[in-house]
Amino acid sequence: MKTLAPPRTIVNSWNEWDPLRHVIVGVATKGCIPVSEPAVEYSFPPESGMLGRRGYWPEEGIARANEELDNLARILRGRGIRVDRPTPIEFNQPVITPDFEHPSMIGCMPARDVLLTVGSEILEATMSQRARWFEYLAYRPLLMEYFESDPEMRWSSAPRPRLGASSYKAGYFDDITVSDFSRIASKADVQDYVTTEVEPLFDAADATRCGRDIFVQHGFTTNLRGIDWLRRHFPEHRIHRVNFRNDPDPVHIDCSLVPLRPGLMLANPARPIVMEPGKEGLFQRNGWEVVMAARPAHSRPQPTCYYSIWLSMNFLTLDPKTVITEETEVYQNEQLSKLGFEVIPIPFRHAYPFGGSIHCATADVYREGTCEDLFPRQ
Ligand code: ARG
Repeated sequence: MKTLAPPRTIVNSWNEWDPLRHVIVGVATKGCIPVSEPAVEYSFPPESGMLGRRGYWPEEGIARANEELDNLARILRGRGIRVDRPTPIEFNQPVITPDFEHPSMIGCMPARDVLLTVGSEILEATMSQRARWFEYLAYRPLLMEYFESDPEMRWSSAPRPRLGASSYKAGYFDDITVSDFSRIASKADVQDYVTTEVEPLFDAADATRCGRDIFVQHGFTTNLRGIDWLRRHFPEHRIHRVNFRNDPDPVHIDCSLVPLRPGLMLANPARPIVMEPGKEGLFQRNGWEVVMAARPAHSRPQPTCYYSIWLSMNFLTLDPKTVITEETEVYQNEQLSKLGFEVIPIPFRHAYPFGGSIHCATADVYREGTCEDLFPRQ
């Protein structure tokens, strides 16, 4: 099915599956090697060649990631979807505020992490890592353009967090050795995350949208105050807090719980979902099927990729019958075909170190459709 790009800019997206017509695709240009900070410990293995390195990623890595990102943009455009790209700022400079100083930023590849589109609103997330405090600036030229051309667009920014010492639990990573992710998973099991509750914190990628219901992962990047802030900000929606047990990387929901189409949810078999008290059985009560994702094709992430092998679940849904996925994730792709999807596989693994896979790298501007109530039985 060929859709046509909207004749004018419309900001409208209520879920993760309605026909996509306008999207932002990130770029790797000027991307920097991430540096540990109170919110996150990076422990690149020796074979990554990145130990102790700072500043820009090697030029060749940036070029190969950009090739894959440009290819994604080209394929989307070929299907009549409008694609915009952010404008990188100088990421290789210190982030300095009255409350902290951090040596560099990360980049603007994972657009999903920063921008949360709900209906006609695009909300800039607080973010929760110091390196990412100014990341929204890369999207400001686009946001200004949407604001200019769509009179209905609502543009908002959550309260800028301070991210001072009190925003994080001191020494959280002290007893966690480089390869011991199970240690994080056991802390996550008792909902002991690195961030404190001194201020609202959330990353946009912690939310997944299903019409009136929005599921938000409580973890390293989103705290309870952040969820409370989202609840009050979107009073017409039902914001559901979800936790995942056994999660060695409790950030961003799009490798753990992925809605595929109305009534069908893909879940991570290694990370059992914990719903809020009283909300257990919400999916079943409303006739949703929860399918366990196929196993990832890789047993380890690439040495320079700081996310898990479950990026296999991080694909982009173009409409309720079409998904664009990473080509080497053969098991996931086979499962999606069996579930009735047309699968468009593309190479994307060189882009992973810049912030994840295809869902991470994109942010919705316009999907057809309206806000539906798909969970009437709460
Ligand atoms: N927590 C995820 C994992 O399994 C990574 C999620 C990346 N998503 C994103 N939007 N950046 O590793």
